[in-house]
Amino acid sequence: MTRKHWIAAVLALLVSGAAQAAGEMLHKECAACHKLDGAAVQTLKEAFAKKGADLSYAGNKYREEWLVSWLQKPTRIRPAGMYYADHVKRGPKSDEVDPATLQDHVAISKEDATAIAAELMKLRPHDDLIAKEKIEPGTIDRQMGEMTFDKFWGCMACHEIEPGYGGLSGPEVYTAGQRLQPEFIASFIRNPQAWEPKTWMPNKNVSEGAIQKLVRYLELLAKENGNGQ
Ligand code: HEC
Ligand code: HEC
Repeated sequence: MTRKHWIAAVLALLVSGAAQAAGEMLHKECAACHKLDGAAVQTLKEAFAKKGADLSYAGNKYREEWLVSWLQKPTRIRPAGMYYADHVKRGPKSDEVDPATLQDHVAISKEDATAIAAELMKLRPHDDLIAKEKIEPGTIDRQMGEMTFDKFWGCMACHEIEPGYGGLSGPEVYTAGQRLQPEFIASFIRNPQAWEPKTWMPNKNVSEGAIQKLVRYLELLAKENGNGQ
């Protein structure tokens, strides 16, 4: 072997070693709270008992660069945890999150985050659903986006559009445009149950035009929050 070939061989070994280590870490440490393979949760009992989001379709859902940075410095996505009824208490006006009941997410090194993100991106059981989506280019102004999200389709009942503003039962959506692939956003809005049969997000039969508007709005929100790249 020439020197160049040796270097290539050693690099290939290092890369496969990192992938193997990442796979082990995922199945040892992350699998305690996250589903990594198999069919989605099929009963409400299991849905309420979830300790973390289903990662078995992570490669169809997340943006890889977001995974790498979030895993090093996690911020809260679900303001009231996986199941909000476990983490809200009655406030004087409405329900309030009880932060004492919420745990911080484990943070990992840049090296581990990079390797784990690469492993997660391989999990793509729903390429078929993603292939059905076509994102049309276009823009939306904030007011029209908010009307569509809040007034026309009632999405704000469950989703925060800025920290502390909006519903508590779903993930916040002000970083969704940075976190999620646009085709996933469109597909999840079109038919949440195709991804999570027992999710409490309703299928509102959102029209094609509105789906496109909602995707643009979530991307705009992520940019306005200084999170868009
Ligand atoms: C003790 C349980 C627990 C362990 C262990 C854990 N997680 Fe999580 N994970 C959670 C919870 C709870 C959330 C939701 C956090 C939030 O809403 O801010 C979450 C969220 C996530 C998300 C974002 C999911 C989303 O869309 O809401 C990713 C990605 C993730 N975890 C990856 C990992 C990886 C990789 C590991 C292993 C290094 C890991 N987690 C270990 C409980 C856990
Ligand atoms: C009754 C509450 C509820 C309503 C109304 C609702 N959602 Fe959701 N949404 C959820 C929950 C809960 C999830 C998390 C899915 C899961 O893990 O089960 C979710 C997930 C999502 C996601 C994926 C986010 C992620 O990080 O996983 C998007 C995007 C989304 N909703 C957009 C919308 C839009 C747009 C509307 C209005 C058309 C809407 N939602 C209406 C509860 C709701």
